[in-house]
Amino acid sequence: MSRLDSFIRRLEAQRACLNQAARLIATVPGPILEFGLGNGRTYDHLRAIMADREIWVFERTIAPHPDCMPPEDRLILGDFRDTVDDALQRIGTTAAFAHLDVGSGFVQETRALAAFLAPRVDRLMSEGGLVASDQPLSAPGWDPVPIKGVEPRRYHLYRVTRRARR
Ligand SMILES: C[S@@+](CC[C@H](N)C(=O)[O-])C[C@H]1O[C@@H](n2cnc3c(N)ncnc32)[C@H](O)[C@@H]1O
Repeated sequence: MSRLDSFIRRLEAQRACLNQAARLIATVPGPILEFGLGNGRTYDHLRAIMADREIWVFERTIAPHPDCMPPEDRLILGDFRDTVDDALQRIGTTAAFAHLDVGSGFVQETRALAAFLAPRVDRLMSEGGLVASDQPLSAPGWDPVPIKGVEPRRYHLYRVTRRARR
């Protein structure tokens, strides 16, 4: 498969995952969390398909397409490692959906970041909420959800369950 094919498949998988998540969280209360604004493509898509939700964006370098700039009061600016632990206090309520699109070209660094984030994102989530990710994630009580039409491991979706474990 060419790198172009691979890139297109990744984006198709990402879109399918976000669209499926939008349907699945219909009855779960709470805002949306976007980790990794980048160019703002997935933020823009989330705005379109989850139009009735607040979207909080975590990012250290704000440089999206000009049409995809989040409102200042929904931006959590800085390194995820410095911002995620205090985020619940700032947001004020647990989230229905989190999307982690945090990958860089550095595989080990990205995996370490994903491992750092998973238990902390867990603390930000409502019971029954969903977490989507470009990286595989693992946290107690997170059940993998198959993404329709997407090969396993191309993108990742988890249902957050068993709040009683806290
Ligand atoms: C793959 S890009 C996100 C692409 C974006 N979702 C889109 O659709 O345009 C990953 C983003 O995560 C951000 N990022 C990576 N590691 C980070 C960290 N430790 N703290 C804050 N932001 C980080 C990068 O600055 C980058 O903008």
